Amino acid sequence: MQLSLLDSAEQPPNAENRVTELRLLLEHHNRRYYQLDTPEISDSEYDALFRELLGLEEQCPELITPESPTQRVGEAPTSRFRAVAHGLPMLSLENAFNDEEIKSKLDARIKKELGLPDSVVMSYMCEPKMDGLAVELVYERGVLTVASTRGDGVTGEDVTQNIRTIRALPLRLTSEGVPDLLEIRGEVFLSLDAFQKINQVREENGEPSFANPRNAAAGSLRQLDPRITARRPLSIYCYAPGRVEGALFSSQYEFLNAVSRWGLPVNPMARRVDGVDGVVAYYHEMQEIRESLPYEIDGTVIKVDSFQLQRELGEKSRAPLWAIACKFPPRQAETQIEDILLSVGRTGVITPVAQLKPVEISGVTVSRATLHNWDEMAAKDIRIGDTVVVERAGDVIPAIVRVVEERRNGSERAVLPPQNCPECGSAVVRITDEVAIRCIGISCPPQIREAIKHFASRGAMDIEGLGDKVVEQLLSLGLVRTVADLYRLTKDDFMRFERMGDKLASNLLSALNVSKNCDLGRYIFALGIRHVGERTAKSLAQAYGSLANLEKATVEELTSVRDIGATVAQSIVTFFNNPDNRAVIKQLRECGVDPAVVAKTVGGRLSGKNFVFTGALTRFTRDYARKQVEDQGGNVVGSVSRKTNYVVAGDEAGSKLIKARELGITVLGEDEFLNLLEAH
Ligand code: IVH
Repeated sequence: MQLSLLDSAEQPPNAENRVTELRLLLEHHNRRYYQLDTPEISDSEYDALFRELLGLEEQCPELITPESPTQRVGEAPTSRFRAVAHGLPMLSLENAFNDEEIKSKLDARIKKELGLPDSVVMSYMCEPKMDGLAVELVYERGVLTVASTRGDGVTGEDVTQNIRTIRALPLRLTSEGVPDLLEIRGEVFLSLDAFQKINQVREENGEPSFANPRNAAAGSLRQLDPRITARRPLSIYCYAPGRVEGALFSSQYEFLNAVSRWGLPVNPMARRVDGVDGVVAYYHEMQEIRESLPYEIDGTVIKVDSFQLQRELGEKSRAPLWAIACKFPPRQAETQIEDILLSVGRTGVITPVAQLKPVEISGVTVSRATLHNWDEMAAKDIRIGDTVVVERAGDVIPAIVRVVEERRNGSERAVLPPQNCPECGSAVVRITDEVAIRCIGISCPPQIREAIKHFASRGAMDIEGLGDKVVEQLLSLGLVRTVADLYRLTKDDFMRFERMGDKLASNLLSALNVSKNCDLGRYIFALGIRHVGERTAKSLAQAYGSLANLEKATVEELTSVRDIGATVAQSIVTFFNNPDNRAVIKQLRECGVDPAVVAKTVGGRLSGKNFVFTGALTRFTRDYARKQVEDQGGNVVGSVSRKTNYVVAGDEAGSKLIKARELGITVLGEDEFLNLLEAH
């Protein structure tokens, strides 16, 4: 919904439904993000949903409820960042690209400005030039009060909440001599390790990966929701003062030592050197150790150490005369693309990857480069056979900067996005507003693992014992290809596992059997339809009564269901339109998995009573028992909780029986259960 297009103050049509849908979506995605660690949507998609909800609530304040995700005190993101004026402007630096420039633009110029003879040996502070983004922190009486981005140098954005998530940054300065006011500048960055992890997750979720750690740090710091920032392990090194009241430093060296004593992180590689020769030596040394540092640097920053001399030198056109950035040459090389391969991620995202003629870039042999996504590949017009400029920008897999078009000879071949998944052959979809192309086949190998884990999980089919380890073994032994295969497993299959006893195998089989009788809502949730969380699945179960009905639903019908809007509806229809998904559902049905909502007998004798069946039943089948209970108004549930009224235990009942005893729940034998049914 394009809110900006609505210019009247009236409640937009379906606002109420959309608001509820958005809340459920946000809750669902929060859970995937924070609890399950398997986000389904990108941070920006999450932000977009959040903003849409904020917008709707602004338009229709009567729809605001205290439990809306927008109302969470303390963690609510702001709709946009507040502007913060810097006490002193945040300047930029002039660049030097080689030894000669360092000498002429720094040392020679400074001496000329100060009227010093060439023979004078200046004292310089040398620091790595962190490749992140500059921020200003304000400490008032030692307490962090405001943090802002550099912005245009005069005004930045208030990112205090996000900066506060940086673990290494003290919220209060300790030790003696803390000034009344300390404005301090520093660089926020991501370690290479953290960067790679973030990109991995993004690629798996079909989101465009960040091109380099700097972009990733910037993206993380400018998150509207500080909870997302908190998940990105940002770091910071402080390097320059702004306004300071109540403390005096005579040099950069003294300044760095003092702030470090107060608990602020300072780069340990900073070093004071004598003369321009020391500066050049430091520049070379850093260039050499650059690859071994755990973070990206793109050069060194050299500053005249004495603050007195800094003041005398002053600044010119927004850059100080007392400092310079000595940039490293880019880590690039030319090579040829031998092939473009398709890689399928855990969530079905299909990414193009270039196979390169191996080339060495600053000591590392590079033979693959990510093309990120199809849009980017098309924009750069990258083809098989092309000569390309490859750059290592901190990522393990380097990126292709551009095609060297002059080297084309007409034999190059463009690669179009695939129509079918290279792993399973299933048709691929391109989801609106997403750059990724995704295979949504339920039996696509990289996805099966996650699909099965989700299917068996607690909120879904709740198949006790079918944890990650068992799933891994099932897959490595080739015993399952789809979730339906789970129901065809035999005891012998399980006995092939390492560390599998007779008892455990029986329990697994009986847990699988029990799961066949789960309620429809759980089953719908278990199918892992994008955007369909537990609550949405319940609403769908109530509205449709069976999966067969749901399979036939149209987007239009679905949107009339409580809490369901266009996003969820479309995702459901896409899921059931996929022939592979339909085939798996058919197989599940053949295996006896076809839960339906049974019309309940209201006011029956067992009305409101919850039953759990466990162990091997010999006197009757589970289906029979369920029908009997439900006919008399009771419910059959899968797991034991305080809400359970009766646990009916057959032979070899396991953990559920133990739990029932712990909770003091009435345990019935099979005969006792039959007696209960017949009692008047
Ligand atoms: S000093 C006037 N020190 O480089 C003083 N800057 O091109 C300017 N940077 O915006 C800042 N590491 O983002 C300084 N050790 C360091 C730095 C550093 C990285 C960045 C900073 C600044 C840019 C200037």
